[in-house]
Amino acid sequence: MQRPRRNRKSESIRGLVSETHIIPQQLIQPLFLLDGLNKNIPIKSLPGIAQLSIDNALKTIENCMKLQVNSFILFPVVEDRLKDKEATYSYNPNNFYLKAINTIKKEFPGSCLVSDVALDPYSSDGHDGLVENGKIINDKTLPILAKMSLAQAEAGIDIVGPSDMMDGRVGYIRQELDKNGFHETSIMSYTAKYASAFYGPFRDALASAPKSGDKKTYQMNPANKLEALREAKLDMEEGADFLMVKPALAYLDIIHILKEISHLPIVAYNVSGEYAMLKAAANNGWLDYEKALNEVLISIKRAGADIIITYAAEEYAKFLRTSL
Ligand code: PBG
Repeated sequence: MQRPRRNRKSESIRGLVSETHIIPQQLIQPLFLLDGLNKNIPIKSLPGIAQLSIDNALKTIENCMKLQVNSFILFPVVEDRLKDKEATYSYNPNNFYLKAINTIKKEFPGSCLVSDVALDPYSSDGHDGLVENGKIINDKTLPILAKMSLAQAEAGIDIVGPSDMMDGRVGYIRQELDKNGFHETSIMSYTAKYASAFYGPFRDALASAPKSGDKKTYQMNPANKLEALREAKLDMEEGADFLMVKPALAYLDIIHILKEISHLPIVAYNVSGEYAMLKAAANNGWLDYEKALNEVLISIKRAGADIIITYAAEEYAKFLRTSL
């Protein structure tokens, strides 16, 4: 008689036949960076995550790297007085974020740093693109994104991460980087980024919510899958090195299909709201955090993600050492 249960009869057999694995080297820890020193401001809607000044960020990076979490995606928390319509602070040589990239690469040359390329953290309109008469102007946004990418490349970023969803930006950024000698700077494209309610805590963290309207003219409709294939094809043609799906959990089918059609590494962004949901339930005693987190991350891997961006990267790497 066929008995599938035979392969489940002990912990060691279950280990032998386990099909999906997560290693800390394939997790990316997001960090929210603040100007100044000695700052550590907890983010209410992201329990366990704080806005950090560079000195504290370096400590977190050191702790993560001891656990073999070597990759970080960096987001700037920009003061309102530095924001304008054209997001000019994003490529200002005095920008603390660019200095932080430089400092981190000097202190930890073995780290891998991913940037955020979009106008919203620096924009007085709170949109990812340039706003004119209430509209997001695609082609006028591209040169700004390119300037931002170049400034980050000069600062030493390993991978630029365009999260803005403007058409043609991957090709445009690739061309500008190459023209300026940065052919080694990679592009991790937010390929299928959906207009999602799960970004709420992130927008609290950066105070970057749109001042008017929403992001539906550039971020994708959660109902659409074919559109993700179209975006992926364009990103591949335009020279992306990584394709990202975001959010992760409600979009496992999209992760799966991109993995099937592309030879590029697939990245899943397990976003702020997904992390916050789990933390909130766990903090109420409603579920076992460690087990639930493991199940969530395993499901994202099983769907086809090679790399996972998660606020729980450091925490999960600790669990891997101790209990999982
Ligand atoms: C913005 C950006 C967002 C996130 C990453 N980059 C928010 C948005 O598009 O409004 C969200 C990440 C998260 O929720 O964890 N360019």
